[in-house]
Amino acid sequence: MTAHLNVRGDVAVLVPAAGMGIRLGPGGPKALRLLRGDPLLVHAVRRVAAAPSVGCIVVAAPADSVDFVASLLAPIADVTVVAGGATRQASVSAALAAVPAAFDIVLVHDAARALTPPELVETVASAVRGGHGAVIPVLPVVDTIKQVDISGVVLTTVDRSALRAVQTPQGFRRDVLVKAHEAAIDDHTDDAGMAEKLGVEVHTVPGSEAALKITRPFDLAVAELLL
Ligand code: C5P
Repeated sequence: MTAHLNVRGDVAVLVPAAGMGIRLGPGGPKALRLLRGDPLLVHAVRRVAAAPSVGCIVVAAPADSVDFVASLLAPIADVTVVAGGATRQASVSAALAAVPAAFDIVLVHDAARALTPPELVETVASAVRGGHGAVIPVLPVVDTIKQVDISGVVLTTVDRSALRAVQTPQGFRRDVLVKAHEAAIDDHTDDAGMAEKLGVEVHTVPGSEAALKITRPFDLAVAELLL
C-alpha cells in the first residue's frame, strides 16, 4: 500500500474510534493500540482509503486526542477528525454530522476491524449503490448457540442455520442513516439495528474472516498472525 492515498469516490466512510477498549486490557484507547508498530486505526484507514469508491473519511476520535489522531492519519489520506461521544452511537452521530452534503452513500466502519480488506468496502458500497437502503456484511455462525437463563442453565438450542455474525462496514443510503440516528433512543451496538427499528429492510452480503473485530488480547494475537 502506498504512503498517501487521495480519496476520490462517491462514498463517505465514518470510522468510530473513540472507545476505550477496556476488554483489551489497560493501555489507552483501543483504536490507538499498536499492531505490528502501527495503531489499529491506521491499519483500518489505510484499507478504507484503498477502496476506489471512497471519497470522504470521517474519524471520531477520543475528545482529548483529536489533533493527535489528525496528525497520525494525515500522511495516509485526507481525513476529517471529530471528537467522539460517550457511546459508539454518539460517536457515529458526530461523524455523520461532518459529512459533506454531496455524499448520498455512507458506510460506518469500526476502527477495531483493522484488517478489513478494501474489497469488502467495495462490496457493501456497491450493494447500496444498487438500491439497498441498508447493507451489512455477515458470516455464518460456526458454533452451536444456546440460550441460557440468568444462572447459566440452558433454556434452548437455537437453530444456527438462520443465524449470522455481523461485521462492518455497514452501508446506508444517507437519508436512512440520518433518520435512524434521529429516531434512536436506546444505545445500539450497530447502525443496522437502528435502521431495522425504522422498518428498513437490511440486506446482507458475504463478510470476510479478515474483518475480525479486535476486542480481546487473543484477537490482537490473531491479527498479528494474519499480518
Ligand atoms: O466497544 P466496541 O468494541 O463495540 O466499539 C466498537 C467501535 O466503536 C470501536 O472502533 C470503538 O473505538 C468505537 N467507539 C466509539 N465511541 C465510543 C465507544 C466505542 O467511537 N464511545
